[in-house]
Amino acid sequence: MLDDIARVSAEFDAALAAANDKRALDDLRVHYFGRKQGLVPALFARLREVPKEQKKDAGDALNKLRDRLEQALDEKAARIAAQSVPTDTIDVTLPARMPRLGHLHPISIVRMEIEGLFKEMGYTIDPGPEIESDWYNFEALNFTPDHPARDTQDTFFVDVDKLLLRTHTSNVQIRTMEAHQPPIKVLSAGRVYRRDEITMRRSPMFHQAEGLLVDRGIHIGHLRATLEHMIRRLFGADLQMRFRPSFFPFTEPSAEVDMSCLFCRGAGCGTCSQTGWMEILGCGMVHPQVLRNCHIDPEEWSGFAFGLGVDRVAMLKFGVPNIRTLFENDLRVLQQF
Ligand code: PHE
Repeated sequence: MLDDIARVSAEFDAALAAANDKRALDDLRVHYFGRKQGLVPALFARLREVPKEQKKDAGDALNKLRDRLEQALDEKAARIAAQSVPTDTIDVTLPARMPRLGHLHPISIVRMEIEGLFKEMGYTIDPGPEIESDWYNFEALNFTPDHPARDTQDTFFVDVDKLLLRTHTSNVQIRTMEAHQPPIKVLSAGRVYRRDEITMRRSPMFHQAEGLLVDRGIHIGHLRATLEHMIRRLFGADLQMRFRPSFFPFTEPSAEVDMSCLFCRGAGCGTCSQTGWMEILGCGMVHPQVLRNCHIDPEEWSGFAFGLGVDRVAMLKFGVPNIRTLFENDLRVLQQF
């Protein structure tokens, strides 16, 4: 019996050395430990026939054999599993797959461009708050509580302390003039809100860029020159632009500026409501009462202000006929800019 155990043990070592993959190792495990014909269970079965005085030695030897073989099989299995990662098929020198980088939204591109060109002219940039009090959004800008101009800028009210979502960036005019004495040059760009239906050109949330300059001797020529400079920088020198007299409670005189519609080149289309023009900004000379509201003496100081539709500029610049396209965040669209 002890001889047989020694023989099985020696044979096993040779077979184990030859078994180099999982399949061979599994076969080997069955050959030695299989419940029906496994060599080790067979040896255990033969213990019954061993004479009593040899039983203990044989049993010890058999237990040792079983433990040693099991351990050897497990170790080899672990080694084969570790090797089965196909290291030779991974080329560690290959460049890594780059994560997809995001990029700027067309509105941000235009906003930063406008901010950049006014920074060059010495303006400070102040986005101002989107949630605003009635005073800064309306009252200080000469919209008295029952002023009919409020109808053109109906907004959303926040149910706390009579706050509202600003309808324009003109709130920053008041905030700046309250905080600083002239000379003042400030540009504010950001989100504004109005209770409007969504159409091709309107959205209840959109973006404006507001400029305010207050100094001694400022007149409407400064305003026009500044706007021309801005529009040329944004759209190129050959663009048509026109001033239309208009009304805002906080500027006097007031004007609206149109640019030729870039979609139809002035012929008239759905985007420009068949007019051939697109309104892009409102502007005017700061009303003396607004200066007074901010404790600035209109006898000494004068200024101009303008408010530009950033979304309109983005639509014109990138040829987007429908404002909704800008806010739907469809990646197939946004990736084009
Ligand atoms: N705040 C005005 C609007 O939203 C635009 C404007 C700004 C007009 C500054 C004059 C001066 O319609």
